[in-house]
Amino acid sequence: MNNLLITLLTCACLFSLDASASVKALEILHLANEQNIVNIASAKRYLLLPVQDNAPEAKLYVVSANRKILGREINIRLARERVDYIVPLDLSDFAGKDIKIDVQGMPAPSVCWKYMTLSDTFDKTNREYWRPVYHHTPVYGWMNDPNGMFYKDGTYHLYYQYNPYGSTWGNMHWGHSTSKDLVTWTDERIALSPDAWGTIFSGSCVVDAENTSGFGEGAVVAFYTSAKPTPWGDVQAQSIAYSTDNGKTFVKYDNNPVLTSDLRDFRDPKVFWYAPGKHWVMVLAAGQEMLIYSSPNLKEWSYESSFGLRDGAHGGVWECPDLIEMPIYGTDEKKWVLICNINPGGPFGGSAAQYFVGRFNGKKFVNESPTVTKWLDWGKDNYATVTWSGVQDRIVAIGWMSNWQYQAQLPVMQYRGVNTLPRELELYVNDGEAYIRTIPVKEVETLRKDCIHKEPFTVAGGESVVNDFLKNPDGAFEFEVKIKTTSAKESIGFILCNDNGEEVKCHYDMSKGQFVMDRTSSGKVDFSRDFPAVTVAPVNMGKTVSLRVFVDKTSVEIFGEDGKFVMTNLVFPTRPYDTIRFFATDGGYNVKSLDIYNY
Ligand code: FRU
Repeated sequence: MNNLLITLLTCACLFSLDASASVKALEILHLANEQNIVNIASAKRYLLLPVQDNAPEAKLYVVSANRKILGREINIRLARERVDYIVPLDLSDFAGKDIKIDVQGMPAPSVCWKYMTLSDTFDKTNREYWRPVYHHTPVYGWMNDPNGMFYKDGTYHLYYQYNPYGSTWGNMHWGHSTSKDLVTWTDERIALSPDAWGTIFSGSCVVDAENTSGFGEGAVVAFYTSAKPTPWGDVQAQSIAYSTDNGKTFVKYDNNPVLTSDLRDFRDPKVFWYAPGKHWVMVLAAGQEMLIYSSPNLKEWSYESSFGLRDGAHGGVWECPDLIEMPIYGTDEKKWVLICNINPGGPFGGSAAQYFVGRFNGKKFVNESPTVTKWLDWGKDNYATVTWSGVQDRIVAIGWMSNWQYQAQLPVMQYRGVNTLPRELELYVNDGEAYIRTIPVKEVETLRKDCIHKEPFTVAGGESVVNDFLKNPDGAFEFEVKIKTTSAKESIGFILCNDNGEEVKCHYDMSKGQFVMDRTSSGKVDFSRDFPAVTVAPVNMGKTVSLRVFVDKTSVEIFGEDGKFVMTNLVFPTRPYDTIRFFATDGGYNVKSLDIYNY
């Protein structure tokens, strides 16, 4: 389906809402100075709000008996000239009350008034051509960082930074999805909403098996940053909420916030149990360092140490930490890894994840290689990566598959925000230095629909071999290619392409020892000048190499050398890539096997 058709269908769906019939249940009063009151005269589940993605923000308050009954205002880009999409305000939260909506900063002659309706249903049908098939996305609205992931009783929980009132950043809540297998996700109700202390920024969850907190045996305790913009500047503090129904619903702790500071950037608590010391640890991002705290009961926190002012990359603010003990592949040894997301200051501009490997004694982290900067991913689109708590036999991480440089401009509307494939992390040692090895979780293989197996073939220097047998209507597939390098000295690789002349060029630069992905002609790239990019990973190539390449409508994730490097980049092809063209610039190489799996 082309974009025009999709736009037309979207409009048809949006405007098939019977505005004239249902508008009668709403009385809309326009006052002076762009102030408005919406009187709601009938009990329906949702007030459907028409949004224009690039309109200025208006403010919306829910009022009952002359009191604001929603903790704080909703910032929303109500439609002025055109309706891009609809978002629901769930009125069931205010059931039994007579409600008025106070809408401030919205001119009377705007289209939103005509299409604002009451309804018992909200249509969640996908309207986005570029919605991934096997990656996690919110059904509608904006998503950034993954938050609060924990595993309990066979279910993986994934919360995320979420704006339910538009596909741009704001009104941060924790959205919630669950999965039994890490690859098929169920959309759950919003888990945490803003309150008097602010919106809900990133954080983590633990299962308090021993009831150290007194919230109940096995209670799930969530740690998040309460973030409040004030006329005097932004304020951030750490708060907690607990759940006694396995993470479905949370009760905020009465004594929030539990940890305050006069620092401005003070956020993203990651909490875990440190068994040798029998206490809890919190790692927190503060400006350009990480602070470590300890606690016996999850409520009272003592400062222990700071890390990082002189370590790693400092091109931006440090955010979303994680601290995990990781096994070294093929040995019985373990080391501690501190994941540190940084924005901006990534290797290709904007946001990225760096990490440090070292020792941790429950109070202090020591980086064993202070002069080396290590990057988790060599693409532009893997940020805010953190790991699941409560998974016993492996370390599973997930990242937000985007970059703060252009996330707000991505050419989608109904939703904005995709997560990477969940990935398993462990360490390997190269030249005495420990690095993270990343592989996709094995569960992705359960999604494979069929396999096209190609027998070995040779690609001669100066030639290309075309495999146009993908014919995948969804553009959702994986392929694994094993290559034997023979006489090539310059460039060998492959191009993913389609009939619209769009391509993602991937190659090994044999002379420089690099793997390169070029998305400058990958499809739609002109929505941001930071999007067209060439990303480069250093590699130690042997005589044979193998790559696993995951394509899902709008992303290319490449795991090379058994996970020793990974490169994640978004792409927006106007039709699915259905051809793989293998090429060599000089001497040739052998493709020992090529297996393509449709998803
Ligand atoms: C990282 C981040 C976090 C913050 C959240 C706000 O992407 O900036 O530091 O908690 O996003 O949405």
